[in-house]
Amino acid sequence: MCGIVCYIGKRDATPILLEGLRRLEYRGYDSAGIAVTGGEQPYLVKTVGKVSELERRVAEVKPAGTCGIAHTRWATHGRPSEANAHPHTGCHGKIYLVHNGIIENYQEIKDDLIQKGHRFHSETDTEVLVHLIEENFRDDLESALKKALSRVQGTFGIALFHTDDPTKIVLARRGSPLILGIGRNEYLAASDVNALIRYTNKVITLNDNELAVLSAGDYSISDFQDRKVERQTETIEWPAQSADKKGFEHFMLKEIFEQPEAVQNALRGRIVDGEGVSRLGGLDSVTERLKSIKKLIFVSCGTSFHACLLGRYTFEKLTDLSVEVDLASEFRYRNLMLDEKTAIIALSQSGETADTLAAVREAKRKGALCLGLVNVVGSTIAKETDAGVYNHAGPEIGVASTKVFLSQCVILNLIALLIGRYQRLSLTEGLLITRALKELPALIDKILKNAPRVEEIAREYARYENFLFLGRLYNYPIALEGALKLKEISYVHAEGYAAGEMKHGPISLIDPDFPTIALAPRDSTYDKMINNIQEIKARDGKVIAVATQGDEGIAHHVDRVIYVPQTIDILQPLLNTVPLQLFAYYVARARSCAIDKPRNLAKSVTVE
Ligand code: G6P
Repeated sequence: MCGIVCYIGKRDATPILLEGLRRLEYRGYDSAGIAVTGGEQPYLVKTVGKVSELERRVAEVKPAGTCGIAHTRWATHGRPSEANAHPHTGCHGKIYLVHNGIIENYQEIKDDLIQKGHRFHSETDTEVLVHLIEENFRDDLESALKKALSRVQGTFGIALFHTDDPTKIVLARRGSPLILGIGRNEYLAASDVNALIRYTNKVITLNDNELAVLSAGDYSISDFQDRKVERQTETIEWPAQSADKKGFEHFMLKEIFEQPEAVQNALRGRIVDGEGVSRLGGLDSVTERLKSIKKLIFVSCGTSFHACLLGRYTFEKLTDLSVEVDLASEFRYRNLMLDEKTAIIALSQSGETADTLAAVREAKRKGALCLGLVNVVGSTIAKETDAGVYNHAGPEIGVASTKVFLSQCVILNLIALLIGRYQRLSLTEGLLITRALKELPALIDKILKNAPRVEEIAREYARYENFLFLGRLYNYPIALEGALKLKEISYVHAEGYAAGEMKHGPISLIDPDFPTIALAPRDSTYDKMINNIQEIKARDGKVIAVATQGDEGIAHHVDRVIYVPQTIDILQPLLNTVPLQLFAYYVARARSCAIDKPRNLAKSVTVE
């Protein structure tokens, strides 16, 4: 999704801005642009396509300047084109602006400005902002910005400069993240910390309805009513190199192989030995309230939603709570009765997903306790929830989520243990689960050692255009996740289904060209899964089974088997996820797809 990077200081801004844009590429974009001032003369370059193309074009201009803003755009209003790419400038070519978010009443403002003589060059909602600021500009950029924003409905993270005063960049935020990077006599700003960590680990997150002014030697923050805001800097723990590929061909593969560590980090210091319970510091402040909760609703989007679906089974098994799961984009518009006996848990890797954030705000308004399970420290959802738990999985760069998904599933087990042990869950059961959780990293390691076998099968099946993924009970959400991974990165059509539903529709699709991946661990659903597999084989369908290590018998029923070590039933789906991630990765690789940045997708979806 759209990304912003800004720099002001003593150095040449261009290489710093381009490096920042490269670090935002993973979020997904279709065009990019940069505007720099403070040198001999200002310059603006915009391109459709990759940041590397922008770099090539910028090199032709031989630019110089110490103050600049840059942007990667993911089209919402208007197709990807140079005219629609940011930065945008007004009629006088003096104010340059980049924007993330959506201006909802842009048409009405545009009509008005056209009447006043402004000429527009793009189809974007953003361009109205720069003309509106220009219209209000007398001699002070901040005042013009504030005046303009008072007319605007929608969401924004904005950065802008005026070429007559190349000593400052002005930023404003409402609903779209902006983070200031505090360096020595230089300041950066970006919509994502990944663009900053190479230059500084000291950051300040702007809150909604705040405005910041950066100059080479100073910075200030105020609200839209001109009240000064004092805010401490935070230190980012992620080392700059954790956003590198460490020798892996793609971030996604690196992140799949980081899963033993991600699970370890999710568990570290969070299990109380001998008591079969977890300790989650982030929930301490709401422990008493949690004890009185009767109903729990999970909300999220995408892969995080699949972790929620699995979480429902886990919570139903370990706690007395009534549990619901909803897509954040649906939840936020439902007519729900929420009260103080209801808690919602919002799951989000980025902590910025617009629909999930809106769901949190809606639940808060109605008096529910709002908890967050978020990977990005200091993100908006982390800040707006009443309490929560961090994944500590490190940056996830591949657009298709992998390590954070497993981390979410592990932490949902920890939260369920915490609540369950106040309720029906016995010490013996608690101990069984904590022991099995601790064994997960070593078991995931074993599965990863089998990656060459998964690769071999993936190469063999990479030519098929349709796949069915089947699972039952705990493995049903994993069938959905396996199908999502495959379609996200390899553009192959894949459907995830509850195996019991197969006979109600998808069975009609089965033929020799429509292979099925069947999750068939040796659990309570095993016999039923074997029945489903036989129904597929009877219709000449090909089947790849993900089965329990040692289950030699299943090989007689299917075409290929990927073996996975056994753990307790509620954790088995976590292990079964890993070969499906690898399968999707190797199919996409065999089809030469852009694995880390799949077409049309964004890592963090900050628009509705
Ligand atoms: C986007 C990403 C998905 C992700 C979803 C939810 O669609 O491409 O990989 O699962 O957003 O993101 P979140 O950051 O809220 O977990």
